[in-house]
This record gives sequence, structure tokens and C-alpha cells, in this order.
Amino acid sequence: MTGGGRPRTEILPASPAGTARAAALLRAGDIVAFPTETVYGLGADARNGQAVARVFEAKGRPAFNPLIVHVADTGAARRHVVWSDLADRLAAAFWPGPLTLVLPLRENHGISPLVTAGLDTLAVRVPAHPAARALLAGFDGPVAAPSANPSGRISPTDAGHVLAGLDGRVAAVLDDGPCPVGLESTIVGLADTPALLRPGGLPAEAVEQALHQALARPATDDTISAPGQLSSHYAPGASVRLNARTARPGEVLLGFGATDCDLNLSPSGDLHEAAANLFGHLHRLDAMNKPIAVTPIPDHGLGRAINDRLRRAAAPRED
Ligand code: TXA
Ligand code: MG
Repeated sequence: MTGGGRPRTEILPASPAGTARAAALLRAGDIVAFPTETVYGLGADARNGQAVARVFEAKGRPAFNPLIVHVADTGAARRHVVWSDLADRLAAAFWPGPLTLVLPLRENHGISPLVTAGLDTLAVRVPAHPAARALLAGFDGPVAAPSANPSGRISPTDAGHVLAGLDGRVAAVLDDGPCPVGLESTIVGLADTPALLRPGGLPAEAVEQALHQALARPATDDTISAPGQLSSHYAPGASVRLNARTARPGEVLLGFGATDCDLNLSPSGDLHEAAANLFGHLHRLDAMNKPIAVTPIPDHGLGRAINDRLRRAAAPRED
């Protein structure tokens, strides 16, 4: 957002012209929201400290919470991190896709220290969404991008969600409709013992199968080494009550499977469908300004990440 005043956010179609405009804005040091298969990201040139600072400012994000860097392919990732056999196995199996790897930064990595919040590791991922891939190809560099929501709020799974939270605070949003996965990427730490740092759009079971080993899982939220993982994330404005069988008076009920409720994540009990609907449904329920009750969700596969996000939505607020 160069120039004075408070310019409006440009809404760009995911056409060649729209994508070229988004890449040009990134090159100029502006910040641009764009779709990925998981959620919309708020992108900046990861080598440009001023651009990255705009991301923190627009989101109101604490500067100690590092960002994920998005790159076009494994070769590009290897320019910034110390690669390993395990990284190779996971990249071969799941990139492009909803998996983020945390690896040691390599020498001359070129990434702004604001991106990593001073850590000596970097979170990298190769997104699968065609619009994200076209943007990365056009920009031809590493793009730091957290989810495109005000810090601590529900992640955006369509361009309308982005504008609801950040209109006027970002230069543009590249609009390509709803995100197919709907949950943020699974984060796996490979800088030490392989560890699940955040459950997400790729089931942890699949990662363990590809690694032929179990992932270390932090015992409690307090020890999770993804700094953004502490309570009160993804929080809607209204309160959230989990494992509800029925709604109490005044509550709206978010359901899963065959159940009588106000909004259903997946009437047929499909966890993929539920993941894709989760944040959109929370945005809609949030707009009703009533306390939200949620029926139980199975705790396996994508259900683990869905329950993780719901627990955070239900956590006591810090502000
Ligand atoms: O699907 C996604 O991952 C989306 C899309 C836009 O790619 N991005 C996303 O970013 O969810 P964000 O900023 O909302 O979450 C990034 C998480 C935070 O919890 C952050 O603390 C963690 O990644 N993280 C980033 N760098 C890290 C590092 N070096 N070590 C450990 N955790 C890191
Ligand atoms: Mg986020």
C-alpha cells in the first residue's frame, strides 16, 4: 500500500492479468491476499523486511510469531533451508500440498529475519492451489504468508472473509473462490526429532506413514513450539461450547453428521467436507452474535485438526 491515505483493497480475478497485477504489487513491496488450497494467505516478499512488517501491521500480529514462506517447488525451498532425507521423503510425497516443513535456515538464505522472528529455523511450503502456483511463478521469489485474518480471529476461506477482516489494510486480494481444504497446513518440525507442530489439512497419520516413524507430539499446548499455537486462536467473537448434544436456550448449534442443528459441517459425516466448511460456518455463526455450541467430531484423520481449531475457538480470550 504505497501512496497516502487509506486506499481501498483491489479485488483481482485469478486471471493471467489479475495474477500479473498481484505479482507486480508483491514486487513493489505491497501485501496481497491470495488463495491457497488451505486458507487465504496474506503475502509479502519474504526478502523485503518492510513488506513483511506490513503483514504484521495489517494483521495486528505479535512480531514474535514467525511466518510460513511459500515457494514454487522443492528446488526453491532448498535455497533457503538445510535439506535432509526426511524432508525429501515428505516433499516427494506431499508437495505441492497442505504440508509445511520447519527446517534449519541455511547460510545466505536471503529471508528477512522478521519472517522467522529471529529463529534459526524456517517454515516452508509449496502450495497446490493453481492461483497460488501462478502467483509464485509470476513473482518468482519466496512469499511469506500467514493466514489473511486479523491476528487471533477465524482464518479466511474465501475472499469475502479476507475483506471482512482486512479491507483497506491490504493492497489487493486475488479472488479464486472458496479454499478446497479449508484448514491450515499441517506443520512438521524436522530441525530436531520429527514432530507434529500443528495438525492441519494433511492428516498426521499420512505423514507418519511416509516417514515410517511416529511424530513427536507436544504433550500440552504450552509446549508447542509453533509460537502461534497458544490458546485463543481462531476465535470468533461469540463464545464456543464443545461436545454439545443439543443447543441450550439462546445458543446456535453447529453439527456434524445426522443431527438436528442450525448449520451442519457435513450431514453425511464426511471429515473432508467438514474441514472445508469449518471456518466458513464459524464466520456465519459468528455474525449471528450468539453463543455457539458444537456437536462432537470424530478425533481421527482431519477430525484431529478440526477439533484442534474448535478447542482454540473455545479457549478463554486473552484480550
Ligand atoms: O495453510 C497454511 O499454513 C496457511 C496458508 C496461508 O499457507 N498459513 C498459515 O500461517 O496458517 P499462519 O501464520 O497463520 O500460521 C503459521 C504457523 C504459526 O503457528 C507459526 O508460529 C508457525 O507456523 N511457524 C512459523 N515459522 C515457524 C518456525 N520456524 N518454527 C515453528 N513454527 C513456526
Ligand atoms: Mg493463522
